[in-house]
Amino acid sequence: MRAIIWAMYKTQLQENMPALTAALFELYGSRWDFYLILERLEKILAAADKERSSVLKKLDDDFLSGQKKGGEPWFLSNKSLGTMLYVDLFSGNIKGLASKIKYFKELGINYVHLMPLFKTLKGDNDGGYAVSSYREVQKNLGTTADLKALVSAFRKEGIHTVIDFVFNHTSCEHEWAKKALKGDKKYRDFYYIYKNKADADEWNKSLREIFPSVRRGSFTYFKEAGGWVWTTFNSFQWDLNYSNPEVFLAMVQEMLFLANLGIEVLRLDALAFVWKEKGTACESLPKAYTLIKAFSLAAKIAAPSLVFKSEAIVHPDQVVKYIGQDMCRLSYNPLQMALFWSSLASRDARLLTLSMKKRWAIPDGCAWVNYIRCHDDIGWTFSDEEAWSLGINPYEHRKFLNRFYTGRFDGSFARGEAFQENPTTGDCRVCGTMASLAGLEEALDKDDQLLKEMAVARVRMMYGLLFALPGLPLLYAGDEEATLNDYSYKKNPKLAGDSRWVHRVKKDWDKKLLPEQKTIRDLIKRMAKVRAKEKLFAGSKVWFYDQQQPQVFAFCRSGAIHVVANFSESRVPFTVWANKGRLLTDLLSAKQVRAQEQILLEPYELLWLKEEA
Ligand code: GLC
Repeated sequence: MRAIIWAMYKTQLQENMPALTAALFELYGSRWDFYLILERLEKILAAADKERSSVLKKLDDDFLSGQKKGGEPWFLSNKSLGTMLYVDLFSGNIKGLASKIKYFKELGINYVHLMPLFKTLKGDNDGGYAVSSYREVQKNLGTTADLKALVSAFRKEGIHTVIDFVFNHTSCEHEWAKKALKGDKKYRDFYYIYKNKADADEWNKSLREIFPSVRRGSFTYFKEAGGWVWTTFNSFQWDLNYSNPEVFLAMVQEMLFLANLGIEVLRLDALAFVWKEKGTACESLPKAYTLIKAFSLAAKIAAPSLVFKSEAIVHPDQVVKYIGQDMCRLSYNPLQMALFWSSLASRDARLLTLSMKKRWAIPDGCAWVNYIRCHDDIGWTFSDEEAWSLGINPYEHRKFLNRFYTGRFDGSFARGEAFQENPTTGDCRVCGTMASLAGLEEALDKDDQLLKEMAVARVRMMYGLLFALPGLPLLYAGDEEATLNDYSYKKNPKLAGDSRWVHRVKKDWDKKLLPEQKTIRDLIKRMAKVRAKEKLFAGSKVWFYDQQQPQVFAFCRSGAIHVVANFSESRVPFTVWANKGRLLTDLLSAKQVRAQEQILLEPYELLWLKEEA
């Protein structure tokens, strides 16, 4: 085994170093010390390899040999299902989480994304996305040793651990930032700090404002720093300066530390922002892709089974560019997510159909992480051109969606809140749990049976689509049992300024579920079971139906399962396109239909119609 393991590093180095060198040359090739940087990088990789445990090396070996044999990676299996959670809200602490393995297994979950759990600021810390140390777990959650033990317990149960790699910025209390504040030149160069406001203004001219309700522009004045610091998000999150190779070298070490804890997937946080160039929006620049490729190739050498997941909530043209075997093999699917909600509000699935047809394809061996809700707000990141091509005015449509989901549209079933409303443009994003946005909160308040049924049907339909699409379905913890919005964050000064806390709800393990919540939880369990048994749901094969009625979205998996959803409360006709007369059976309800014969879909009906052999 030892010999194989040693050979693995060498082989991986030989296979990946040329591409890694080329990527780094693009970023740092003009520097006199370029080759010294490469040399230092190789030392870092070799040291990390040395520290990697034999258990993890075995994992690497299995991953690589699976790949050589042409097998599908684990995340494309029909048995893979993900969840994401805040450890403190879900189980109090890390040790508590280990006792919840049974809960995950019952739901069929084998991918658990732990939201940021490393040392952070005491007050507002953006849910932990302001990292003060990449190696030290937050005290209230436990220790780094606890985390390592949890990851290993998860692995033994077939659960892959996912955490964030918050690599665009550190907190202002990270030791690098502290040294920068003390005037240490080396660490000042880790960030973008300008003495003169004019320099910051020059950059601001071409930047989008990401957190406009926090501050205008992307820079914050820090008296102690004697200048303006680049802070794309909150003022306590300092953007790292990757044009300085020292930052890359330092962050590779942090990345490999996490990999060597046994983490199998790193979610690359805010990856669109990592490279900056004057006069541009500094989002998804070509060198941002190159930088991610460089991180990925470094990981391939020293921790080959580590997988990246992209968190690019940007224009779909850019989202897809982060996906690849040498980039992120997993990516959130923000287009699918946003267009589910868009179709639900407008009872019109045309934009969803068109966008999925056009934009579904991604490289082999990669997968979408499909989702309905996550810890963040919903942004309407569809393509304007596609909207226009259907006669939909994208600006008006986004305005409508924001109004619909924030209680400003008469007749809306949704209960949600606005996030980061831009005082100049009035633009905003939307927060709320799946159940509240889908109408359950309103239905319960009104105690109206029909509204309750409609809300449950909406949730069922969306999950039915989520579980049937190719890729890895991701459940936001709490949504599996239709948790409602929690408005108590408004009373907590640490959280009150960030409406995303409305859907970051503490799990109460003793609370009795309402009948509708129980129905939803049982539905999810059943769908996960049926999916896990049905091999046709594995892999990436899919074709999307042409639009028949505007309300209906449909696709066919592996040439044999026709998935059909009615995004409205009207009855709408639909025809299955399979060989004439062929019998199809709904895997969920056992209902039978014949191909090429018109059927009538019930309100929010969802079908998994499998062709009889
Ligand atoms: C990502 C996270 C979000 C956070 C931001 C800054 O978008 O998902 O929660 O606020 O990055 O780290």
